[in-house]
Amino acid sequence: MTPEAVSAVLEGPCRLDIAGYRLAPLGDADIDDLYAHFGDPRVTEFLDIEPIEARFQTWDVIDWAEGVRGAGSGVRWSIRDGEGAFVGTCGFHRLTYLQARRGEVGYDLGPAHWGRGVLSRILPAVLAFGHDLLDLHRIEALVTPGNERSCRLLQRHGFEREGVLKGHGWWRGRYWDQVLFARLRDETQQARP
Ligand SMILES: CC(C)(COP(=O)(O)OP(=O)(O)OC[C@H]1O[C@@H](n2cnc3c(N)ncnc32)[C@H](O)[C@@H]1OP(=O)(O)O)[C@@H](O)C(=O)NCCC(=O)NCCS
Repeated sequence: MTPEAVSAVLEGPCRLDIAGYRLAPLGDADIDDLYAHFGDPRVTEFLDIEPIEARFQTWDVIDWAEGVRGAGSGVRWSIRDGEGAFVGTCGFHRLTYLQARRGEVGYDLGPAHWGRGVLSRILPAVLAFGHDLLDLHRIEALVTPGNERSCRLLQRHGFEREGVLKGHGWWRGRYWDQVLFARLRDETQQARP
């Protein structure tokens, strides 16, 4: 698959219906739900952002999501249940096709939805979207040490813990280690140029 073909996927409607949940690219209509979601310190505890304090700051999240999609470097979806209620977000970013076919997956659910298997039901189709439609050979996830729920989730879905990236990120005024997880596509059937 060419990078142009991948861009065409991202430029399309890019919506997924999975196990009773609807995933759609983040946009202006999500502003109030995102404000409440990323204003909750339980959601941001292990993320590289501060809890949102004012509604206008939520536009940065939407601008970021629209920016990565427009640049062909990712997509961030809202996750809504069958009644349209906001559940969380997930998606891909840092898509890299120069001498590689890899990208990073990310996700966050509202705390009311933790421990109920929501993401475990969604993730297989999201990963298939990454491997098949975005043509990713390698899907990575970076996890802040201590985020055991996220580590368990990744390991249940075929990610291997590859090691710790020391001082990999800087946010909230300090450097942070990140645990690197990755999941490779089975390419035994395919030859790549
Ligand atoms: C990371 C995060 C998405 C994990 O959420 P989660 O609820 O543990 O993950 P799932 O939706 O897959 O649910 C799996 C859990 O539900 C339980 N569960 C209950 N019913 C289930 C079902 N029908 N199917 C599968 N699992 C079920 C599982 O036992 C599992 O719990 P366990 O890990 O304690 O065994 C969530 O903690 C979160 O959004 N945190 C804040 C943002 C964040 O840190 N994001 C990750 C950044 S790397």
